[in-house]
Amino acid sequence: MNTDLTGKVALVTGGGSGIGAATCRTLAQAGAAIAILDLRPGPAQTVAEAITAEGGRAIAIAADVTDELAVSAAVVRTVEELGGLQIVFANAGINGMQTPIEEMTLDEWRATIDTNLTGTFLTTKHSIPHLRAAGGGAIVVTASVNGTRLFSAPGYSAYSTSKAGQATFARMAATELARWNIRVNTIIPGSIRTNIGERTYRRNLEAITYDVKMPEKFPPLGARVADPTEVADLVLYLVSDASRYVTGTEVVIDAGLTLLRG
Ligand SMILES: NC(=O)c1ccc[n+]([C@@H]2O[C@H](COP(=O)([O-])OP(=O)(O)OC[C@H]3O[C@@H](n4cnc5c(N)ncnc54)[C@H](O)[C@@H]3O)[C@@H](O)[C@H]2O)c1
Repeated sequence: MNTDLTGKVALVTGGGSGIGAATCRTLAQAGAAIAILDLRPGPAQTVAEAITAEGGRAIAIAADVTDELAVSAAVVRTVEELGGLQIVFANAGINGMQTPIEEMTLDEWRATIDTNLTGTFLTTKHSIPHLRAAGGGAIVVTASVNGTRLFSAPGYSAYSTSKAGQATFARMAATELARWNIRVNTIIPGSIRTNIGERTYRRNLEAITYDVKMPEKFPPLGARVADPTEVADLVLYLVSDASRYVTGTEVVIDAGLTLLRG
């Protein structure tokens, strides 16, 4: 199976932490040069230094995926400094505010939709000319079991809606971009051990919580939360030639969690 990425350049949004950071390192170990885009410059720089220390090539770019000018500039900088663009991981995301719908403010709703869904649109939009110039490429979008397989997490209305939108956007993009040899796929993670809790806020959830007892061994495979490197391995497959006939699909990586809950 060919997962060699030598000579390729990857842009990873939300690359400073969690799934994004693990994927930056995995793609770098496979030979790609990495542009690590994150709202927080410090963590992005730390990941870049770790890759460089391992002998790889990486740059850190501080940018907000909701800001079109910033995303456009980040893509241009990636191409200028690393020499092209063949791989895009649209991964930046937040849980945002979890609260009953009738209590969610418009600003809270927009923060989640803008980061997760509009950020994916902007990242994809501004990458396309460069992927076309490269003769093709691969885009992977991080959605979630919430909004695609699960609709029961209390207060996740904005988050789940953003994730459903991302998965649909990816399918539309797969159809549209296939003519330019650009593949677009979505990963659907279950429970992954990351720092997303730092960008999670909860208000009055007790008003809408279900009293559900989960099975003792949960999820079915391994009964554990995943390490982000396990998701990174899936992204490596989806951006490499090993998946050259795969586009427009969604790959669930949840150890069977949603088979019991979905
Ligand atoms: N952790 C899980 O269990 C889980 C499950 C399903 C889906 N996901 C999805 O995985 C993706 C990555 O999340 P994670 O769990 O690694 O979280 P994380 O918080 O560890 O990492 C996310 C990174 O995105 C960055 N970010 C946030 N808003 C940004 C913005 N506007 N512009 C640029 N960067 C921004 C953060 O600074 C952070 O470094 C998200 O899309 C999330 O919804 C996570």
